[in-house]
Amino acid sequence: MTGPPEIFVAKDIQDLSRNAATEFVRLAQRSVEAAGRFVVALSGGSTPKATYSLLASAELGSRVPWTQTHFFWGDERCVPPDHPDSNYRMAYESLLSKVPVPAENIHRIEGEREPEAAAAAYERTIRDFFRLGVSSWPRFDLIFLGLGDDGHTASLFPGAAARQETRRLVVATYVEKLKTHRITLTLPALNRAANICFLVVGENKAPMVRKALREKSAQLPAAQIAPVDGRLAWFLDEAAASALHG
Ligand code: 6PG
Repeated sequence: MTGPPEIFVAKDIQDLSRNAATEFVRLAQRSVEAAGRFVVALSGGSTPKATYSLLASAELGSRVPWTQTHFFWGDERCVPPDHPDSNYRMAYESLLSKVPVPAENIHRIEGEREPEAAAAAYERTIRDFFRLGVSSWPRFDLIFLGLGDDGHTASLFPGAAARQETRRLVVATYVEKLKTHRITLTLPALNRAANICFLVVGENKAPMVRKALREKSAQLPAAQIAPVDGRLAWFLDEAAASALHG
């Protein structure tokens, strides 16, 4: 990882979302200028929704090169795309249905399929998109991540075998505590990104933010996020950052 994580503390989720959306616009413009495309993997959960909605606004959306932007996901629930729990549905409703992204630029995880087949299909999609060789890794321009109050990120949960994966880009993982399967990018795939931005709000996340940033607790999947050759930034609200001091 090139340098320590950058930490941006915002007053509240509105302030954090503006910071995160502005960062998205900055990276999109820079990536398209440098390489003619911007390849982003979105996070699921609830925190990023306000950021996605801001990106759909005229003020910020008018500055994004949508036709050269490609959307992937860091993880997905094993549900159909129109299911209330679908990460794709959340992004579609808050952003993708409101901006001129070409349909062929949206590379969702097929959560409706049998988990192993969905993981294999998504890995193939990524390998084909990045034109990867057998032992190569994708370099996403930006990956948004969230943090669970147990320290999980994407769908890499504490104690899960998926955290040990070193070869595959994508795995299906059974999450015992949720009694459900998930599809997730693996740590090596995540850590090849050029920019990784955590978006975390709420006092309930403060202990895990401290463990990840200060104690670097190896048991925490979020603490294992360390770009090999890239930039890591944490966008926090004051409540989520409240255990970092002292
Ligand atoms: C998911 C996410 C997951 C999420 C965290 C935080 O599919 O749910 O990928 O890693 O980011 O659980 O979720 P909240 O933003 O809802 O707190």
